[in-house]
Amino acid sequence: MRHFSLIALLVVVLFSATLTAPITTAEDTQAEAEAAAVPSSIPEEAKKARNPQPATPESLEHGQLIYGSQCSRCHGTSGDGKGRLVERLKLKIPDFREPTTQAARTDGELFFILTEGHGKMSGQGARLDVETRWDLVNYVRFLGNPE
Ligand code: HEC
Repeated sequence: MRHFSLIALLVVVLFSATLTAPITTAEDTQAEAEAAAVPSSIPEEAKKARNPQPATPESLEHGQLIYGSQCSRCHGTSGDGKGRLVERLKLKIPDFREPTTQAARTDGELFFILTEGHGKMSGQGARLDVETRWDLVNYVRFLGNPE
C-alpha cells in the first residue's frame, strides 16, 4: 500500500512537471543553439565598411519581412530588445529605438555583428545573403528613426 502511494505521488509529480513545462517549438530550439557565445571583437576594417544598399522602400520592406520572421523573437517587433525568447535565454539586447544604441555603432559594425555574431548574437552570414544583411541593417536603422 505504501509502495503504491509512492508511485502515485511520482506519477502526479511527473505529470505536473509536463504540464508546467514551457512549450518549445523547433524554431525556439534552433534559436537556443544559436545563442551560444561568440567572441565580441570587431575589426577596425569592418567598422569602416560602407553600406552599399540605399534605404529604399524596397530595401526596408525586405528587411522588415526577414526581421519579422528571424529577428523579432529576440529583438522584439518594435526593436525594444524584449522578444519572447529573451527571458528564457537570459539575453541582454540593446534597444534599437534608443538614439544611444543607434549612435554607438556604424553600419559596418551592425553588418559585421549580423554576419559573424557578437556575444550571444549568433552570426547569420551562412543563412542570409549579403544584400539581405544590408537590408536588415537599413531596417534596424529605421526602427531607431521611423518616419
Ligand atoms: C537568439 C536571439 C537572437 C536572434 C534570433 C537575433 N538576435 Fe541580434 N542580438 C541578440 C543578442 C543577445 C544581441 C546582443 C549581443 C551582445 O552581447 O553584444 C544581439 C545584437 C544584435 C545587433 C547589434 C546591436 C548593437 O548595437 O550592439 C544587431 C545589429 C542584431 N543583433 C541584429 C539582428 C538581426 C537583424 C537578427 C535577425 C536576422 C537578429 N539580430 C536575430 C540576440 C538575437
